[in-house]
Amino acid sequence: MKTLYLKSDDKKSIQTAAEILQNGGLVAIPTETVYGLAANALDSEAVKKIFIAKGRPQDNPLIVHVSSIEEIEPLVEKIDPRAYALAEKYWPGPLTIIMKKSDKIPAEVSAGLDTVAIRMPSHECARAIISASGLPLAAPSANASGRPSPTKAAHVVEDLDGRIDAVVDGGESDVGVESTVVTLCTDPPTLLRPGGITPQQLIDVLGEIEISHAVYEKLKEGEKVQSPGMKYKHYAPKAQVTIIKGSFEQYKKFLLAQRDTVCAVCFEGEGKHFEKYIEYGRESDELSQAHSIFDALREVDAMGCRRAFVRCPVSDGVGLAVYNRLLRSAAFRVIDLDIKIPVIGLTGQTGAGKTSVGAMLKDKGYAIVDTDILARKAVENPEVLGMLAARFGDDIIKNGVLDRRELARRAFADKEGSEALNAITHPEITRLAVEEIHLAEENGARAAVIDAALLFDSCLAALCDKNISVVADENERLERIMKRDSISEEDALLRIKAQPPVEYYIEKADIVINNNAGDDLQNQLARL
Ligand code: TXA
Ligand code: MG
Repeated sequence: MKTLYLKSDDKKSIQTAAEILQNGGLVAIPTETVYGLAANALDSEAVKKIFIAKGRPQDNPLIVHVSSIEEIEPLVEKIDPRAYALAEKYWPGPLTIIMKKSDKIPAEVSAGLDTVAIRMPSHECARAIISASGLPLAAPSANASGRPSPTKAAHVVEDLDGRIDAVVDGGESDVGVESTVVTLCTDPPTLLRPGGITPQQLIDVLGEIEISHAVYEKLKEGEKVQSPGMKYKHYAPKAQVTIIKGSFEQYKKFLLAQRDTVCAVCFEGEGKHFEKYIEYGRESDELSQAHSIFDALREVDAMGCRRAFVRCPVSDGVGLAVYNRLLRSAAFRVIDLDIKIPVIGLTGQTGAGKTSVGAMLKDKGYAIVDTDILARKAVENPEVLGMLAARFGDDIIKNGVLDRRELARRAFADKEGSEALNAITHPEITRLAVEEIHLAEENGARAAVIDAALLFDSCLAALCDKNISVVADENERLERIMKRDSISEEDALLRIKAQPPVEYYIEKADIVINNNAGDDLQNQLARL
């Protein structure tokens, strides 16, 4: 079908949109939160088309949009007086209220639940279309399911052109994140989705509210949810998104240490430090962040970056909504760079005795973060597994378990293979390392030591305040490797030659520890 493009300031547009809706069609309309994909809420055939156009899961209910308070009466079993109180204060505006539904609401709208979600938008064009059609309009966000919500008509066109009857261009959505969803069907009322109306604003009217744990946390496998929308991967660009907590200095150091070109999604004025960046709003200004976040997430893909690192938004007020959306677009991947204890990187040539140095530091009360162990843990992550299978073949996973030997055989066959393996696993190893450092911090460790053979070939060195290289003469290392791993001199030499020369380790380290027979390690470590 050809999608009609209408401008909201053209008088005829409102009438045309209303007629399409009365005839059971789909129209994307601007609202102050995000664009909505509207259909007649009382016509189940029309509503079914919404699910098809968006590719939306059937069990995710829709919000019904009205243009006056009187319109809600026929839609609900009976009106809760608290709904009037909320409406009086925050309607028209970015608040959705859930109540018990009446029989007029088709099962398609409520996805089989006995409740209905209702909102009165404040965008003039949205209200004009609702009143001109004389219908309550079911409207989810007008994006393809899973994609960032649309805040411009161009975003709707990007996702749904040719799949809907019309789009009405009413300019950029002002708020930029979807409405707050609160249910009055629980006692106390529960905030199911944070949005343009803050938790405090709800408390001002309702007294007490509960905040659904799904706002902050990943749902457990098979958990029953109050708001089905919270269950799905959402708002996600194709690039992998990670939220970074901490100061701008920490963020900058970490991003500049990445091996591939990543996209910095940061605040106004910060972008100039990076090769590829998108700025979303001003630091500590949650309204400006809300306004631009979805547009920024869409831009990430336009830049062609595989990974994006987002500066953590303010998380109260409307900022809670921004944080909640970002958490989902990042599949809950957060790295907190605000580390309070000193972090030391420990690396060295094979056979130089890095492990012995690590053991000595452990005795001094330092927590050891062993990246060999983390590398094994990283490949248990389903997302990492998926990426490995896509790169190295589905058959490296047998009955859900990774065949490590086969992966190693394929990945280490050539340089591209091992680089691809690192590119997939290093980000997860880094995330796990930071998690362990925070754990060490909580457990009262004096400092944390990241033990990593590839310290300088990864972004791990950027997490460290000081880096130590352990080196030893080649003959000495040869003996140690042969003895330790019971291998021939030839094989031991191969391993030694596979690593960079000693100068590499010396040049990049802050502290070099010599570990030949007769060297006093304790004495050298005392310098720490
Ligand atoms: O700002 C908004 O709310 C936008 C604009 C277009 O109005 N609409 C929007 O709709 O965000 P949608 O479908 O993308 O999100 C609706 C959310 C989903 O998380 C859904 O699960 C939840 O509201 N919801 C709808 N009806 C519900 C119900 N009866 N019970 C629980 N959750 C419900
Ligand atoms: Mg949505």
